[in-house]
Amino acid sequence: MALIMPHYQEQGQEVTLFEHAFRRQLPVLLKGPTGCGKTRFVEHMAAKLGRPLYTVACHDDLSAADLVGRHLIGDGETYWNDGPLTRAVREGAICYLDEVVEARKDTTVILHPLSDNRRILPIERTGETLHALPEFMLVVSYNPGYQNLLKGMKPSTRQRFVALRFDYPKPELEARIVAQETCVDDKLATQLVALANALRVLKEHDLEESASTRLLVYTATLIQDGFEPLAACRAALVEPLTDDSETVEALMEVVKTFFA
Ligand SMILES: Nc1ncnc2c1ncn2[C@@H]1O[C@H](COP(=O)(O)OP(=O)(O)OP(=O)(O)O)[C@@H](O)[C@H]1O
Ligand SMILES: [Mg+2]
Repeated sequence: MALIMPHYQEQGQEVTLFEHAFRRQLPVLLKGPTGCGKTRFVEHMAAKLGRPLYTVACHDDLSAADLVGRHLIGDGETYWNDGPLTRAVREGAICYLDEVVEARKDTTVILHPLSDNRRILPIERTGETLHALPEFMLVVSYNPGYQNLLKGMKPSTRQRFVALRFDYPKPELEARIVAQETCVDDKLATQLVALANALRVLKEHDLEESASTRLLVYTATLIQDGFEPLAACRAALVEPLTDDSETVEALMEVVKTFFA
């Protein structure tokens, strides 16, 4: 089966670094704001390296058993069912734990022996200890902006990973991404990126996060589809940023200076 490689526009040396980490069996941590390309990057790298990818969206109820597996009952019998992490360890796949800091703390016990030079996964419930195949790679990500003291990553966990910081790309690169993702022309892509950067520097409105590359792609998609630019910016670039209607109107004033 031919793998389709999702397009990824490199921002720095992240592709080479990831390849080195894969070859030398080092786990990788990606940090950066929402919609800046972390997931796309991992999808691209998995396809480039020809490895299956298991992605787990972590949430505050996600336990070690959700990653490792559990006994299930079927046809009156119990049988063991591998979780995504165990499957990746057995198959030599890439396991991507998105928003890893959200997961329950019992997951740390599993991740530590797997992310240092032991590369083992002890499965308590079956008594097995798996040694990860050389092609197995653990990738985790989180958004430092959302961190609170309780949810932060422990240094002993963080220091098991090679870490890559992501951010919104430089304007020329971001315009290229928007144009490539949506087929809008370069002029419109450049204009949208300039608008995003004008919104990003607005510090007086206390927005949780600023306009992401993802939102720019959404906005460009609507405009490309024939939607009026001001309305597209409102729906896809401004409203997703805040629920406060006064802030929306203030941000729309900035939009109007770009799309009168
Ligand atoms: N470097 C890039 N190359 C190609 N497309 C990109 C790039 N960066 C962002 N994008 C576009 O932005 C969209 C959002 O990126 P992605 O889903 O990877 O963000 P993310 O960092 O994983 O966000 P989140 O933290 O919210 O999960 C992608 O679907 C793609 O259209
Ligand atoms: Mg993501």
